[in-house]
Amino acid sequence: MSFALKLMNWYREHGRDLPWRNTQNPYIIWLSEIILQQTRVEQGLPYFHRFLEAFPIVTKFAAAEEEEILRLWQGLGYYSRARNMHKAAKMVVNDFDGIFPSSYTEVIRLSGVGDYTAAAISSFSSNEAKAVVDGNVYRVLSRYFGIDEPINGTKGKKVFAEIAADMLDMKDASTYNQAIMDFGALQCKPKKPDCEICVFNLECVAHREGIVDRLPVKLRG
Ligand code: ADE
Repeated sequence: MSFALKLMNWYREHGRDLPWRNTQNPYIIWLSEIILQQTRVEQGLPYFHRFLEAFPIVTKFAAAEEEEILRLWQGLGYYSRARNMHKAAKMVVNDFDGIFPSSYTEVIRLSGVGDYTAAAISSFSSNEAKAVVDGNVYRVLSRYFGIDEPINGTKGKKVFAEIAADMLDMKDASTYNQAIMDFGALQCKPKKPDCEICVFNLECVAHREGIVDRLPVKLRG
């Protein structure tokens, strides 16, 4: 069975039921993904609910006072994220008639939306075949293939982006992307992953070579 199918089978059994997974609304997905940048799911959840209650649609977000947005953001840090969200919401109103876009090429134009977030929004909202590459994905793929190229170097970024795109399930990018994130967060954890109960333990190169705790490699600086 392919990596993708095995991963998605694991996800059906062990994946988390998170509120932003029960929607294809690109605005709601954008809200969740920006909140979850540099924030753990448990910490981000109450913020997600408060923002969605205050601004149920993107036009309400755009029309808000910056002060109100920053007040709701309190505790998350990196206030530029909140300011960029406000800018992005205004861009949606001005450039997209208030209809939040769902394609990769459109959402990547919005303030604060980089490659990761654009892949997440477009795959989750319209099943576009874009692979997310975040810390979880680096960890899972570096271990599975036993790759010690530093993940934060120029070459490493390119290598992992290519492998991530190769591994993606082209028919169900949405489920695949959610699955690899949960697999990294719950099973292929940074510290003390329980490889004895892992569905990939017979094929994982890092497990076979006993180097799981040394991957991924990250350069300092
Ligand atoms: N962290 C960032 N995006 C996430 C998502 N969609 N599900 C779980 N954790 C995440």
